[in-house]
Amino acid sequence: MAALDIPALLGSLTLEEKAALLDGADFWRTQAIERLGIPSVMVTDGPHGLRKQAGEADHAGLHESVPATCFPPAAGLASTWNPQLLERIGAALGRECRAEEVAVLLGPGINMKRWPLCGRNFEYFSEDPYLAGELGAALVRGIQGEGVGTSLKHFAANNQETDRMTVSADIDERTLREIYLPAFERVVTGAQPWTVMCSYNRINGTYASEDRWLLTEVLRDEWGFQGLVVSDWGAVNRRDAAVAAGLDLEMPSSGGSGTQIVLDAVRGGTLAEKDVDLAVTRVLELLNRALPALAPGQSFDADAHHALAREAAAASAVLLKNEGDILPLAAGGSVAVIGEFARTPRFQGAGSSQVNPTKVDTALDGLREAMTVTFAPGFDIESTQGDAALVKEAVAAARQADVAVLFLGLPPSYESEGYDRDHMDLPQHQVDLLHAVADVNANVVVVLSNGSVVTVAPWQQRAKAILEGWLLGQAGGAATADLLLGRTNPAGKLAETIPVRYEDNPAIGNFPGEHGHVRYGEGLLIGYRWYDAHRLDVAYPFGHGLSYTSFSYADLEVAAGEQSATVSLTVTNTGSRSGTEVVQVYVSDPHAIVFRPEQELRGFATVSLEPGGSTRVSIELNRRAFAFWHPALRRWSVEGGEFAIRAGASSRDIRLQETITLAGDDLVVPLTADSTAEAWLAHPAAGAWLKDQLKGPFHDMLFDPRNGQMMRAIPLVRLSRFPGFPVGESQVADAVARYAA
Ligand code: BGC
Repeated sequence: MAALDIPALLGSLTLEEKAALLDGADFWRTQAIERLGIPSVMVTDGPHGLRKQAGEADHAGLHESVPATCFPPAAGLASTWNPQLLERIGAALGRECRAEEVAVLLGPGINMKRWPLCGRNFEYFSEDPYLAGELGAALVRGIQGEGVGTSLKHFAANNQETDRMTVSADIDERTLREIYLPAFERVVTGAQPWTVMCSYNRINGTYASEDRWLLTEVLRDEWGFQGLVVSDWGAVNRRDAAVAAGLDLEMPSSGGSGTQIVLDAVRGGTLAEKDVDLAVTRVLELLNRALPALAPGQSFDADAHHALAREAAAASAVLLKNEGDILPLAAGGSVAVIGEFARTPRFQGAGSSQVNPTKVDTALDGLREAMTVTFAPGFDIESTQGDAALVKEAVAAARQADVAVLFLGLPPSYESEGYDRDHMDLPQHQVDLLHAVADVNANVVVVLSNGSVVTVAPWQQRAKAILEGWLLGQAGGAATADLLLGRTNPAGKLAETIPVRYEDNPAIGNFPGEHGHVRYGEGLLIGYRWYDAHRLDVAYPFGHGLSYTSFSYADLEVAAGEQSATVSLTVTNTGSRSGTEVVQVYVSDPHAIVFRPEQELRGFATVSLEPGGSTRVSIELNRRAFAFWHPALRRWSVEGGEFAIRAGASSRDIRLQETITLAGDDLVVPLTADSTAEAWLAHPAAGAWLKDQLKGPFHDMLFDPRNGQMMRAIPLVRLSRFPGFPVGESQVADAVARYAA
């Protein structure tokens, strides 16, 4: 179909038709205007597989969808730290969309994991914005490379499910800019998603759907977003305000009420028709982007995609511990496989992202193909208490085996879109089962299935090895067997910290908020930033993950530019198996005029090496790697001076460090009458002027070694009102005019 002639269409569409185009046609389709040859296209979930509903529609994952490959959800994919792999998965997702004539896949979701109990953490990548941004951009590139659109969601600050439709996320601007927006910024500037989905919640009191600062000033004017903004399903509050703010398309269909509100507002003069035209233009541009790939009769290779899902799952699991190299399992030994999850895998989370898989592998089948296995289910997944007969059977199996592999995890009902978890622990009866098994067999391996972190500290000493399996998609079972058997070498690294105790978490006391507000009181200190700042022990740090081989780091070189650096180092596989390592680069600013986290991830590289193999890794750090959001200047700023560059295998396994010196920006904050005497004196020009004016007792008071500091902390305008102060109020006003610029 030929591209739509947008200027001509804008001239031909009636106001009613324009307003109609800004509303969905049904649950998943945009409006067609047949009179003018404007077709309707389908958008649908997403993100880790296609959820195209052929029959009854809903956005809660209730009704069936067509079979599609279920790749690991973001919690798994994030642990790969592998953008190339995510790009390939994106391309596969794009091909499945084309086969089903879907124009836009609703994802990826890249909100920060502020709190481990968020019910939707399995759909999000990380507690770190840099990592989430890099991975999100890769997925978008892959999908869009196939001519299929994406919807970057949920913009912004949708970090909890409790009250998600109304809660106000109350966040200071620096925290927004440095933690909650950068992943979105990275994907927008680096990959230009065709659409961005605005979130349900409010930010500092304003609904995201009607926040012009967010949807237009930041997203379009600052970041250069070229696409369309769509509402999350049902996120529109006041439709006219939303159009004016920059929300183009309301989904799903409002049944005509949104259309009527837009019409009334334009006719009543409270909404400019040019705002409507702009939104219509963006809808038509989306159609033009999508139409070329929407030819019927396309297909995808389900077996090849399953194989890719297996590769992705293996790369997503994280080997947390492996005492005495108990893994990989020794060939020829006897194994007791315990836990219902081995037979009934939990491989994705619940809600709108739920995919109907083309097939499902189990770890039990995978292990049985290679070894003699005794299986005992051990527990019923959704049961709240243990079953004595099942425990007895499991203990008997463990007693006779060389190794007991326990598949433990969270029941599906614990984690879902729409609500948050109540606690961070595994069901107690599963932990009791672990103790019972460990009492009769010292060689225990635990495999976990969970969408976000669980506490491991209370029980981990009973297991020699722990494989954190997250939710691994439809091929996760086979991939888990590959890892346990050593056919694949674990390479995943944690994209979120596993704290020792629930009470150690950063947002304690500030989650999930009350009376419609959730205060982001921990500010910049989410995830490892918090644990580092508080010098808290963690169970496993951000970036951690073991391999069946080992790597050494050497010869760090940091070539500093004015406000950038190139980091290079040599990584060597010092073990006896081929393996993959994720080299992480953290930047630390030890002396700063604002509070800065102890260290922040600013670059990483994934390298695969044969035993004995070595490679030189090079990682670029741009200006943003060193910048902070200046709260007073309201811009990204680099403070000149020393920065430490740390290269490591995790945030707490720093292997090499170098210090560099960079040039700084001019960070002089404009003076006001309320600025302190100290600030006035520190100002290059105004300081000299003020010193000149000061004489007599006030000079002595301000520079008194004991009391001067207290005096200099007084705003200049207040001092000017003190009897005898040599500078009057009007002179302060003149000085502000002179020096403020
Ligand atoms: C979810 C979105 C999803 C949409 C459509 C909403 O409830 O928050 O992530 O894309 O439904 O199913």
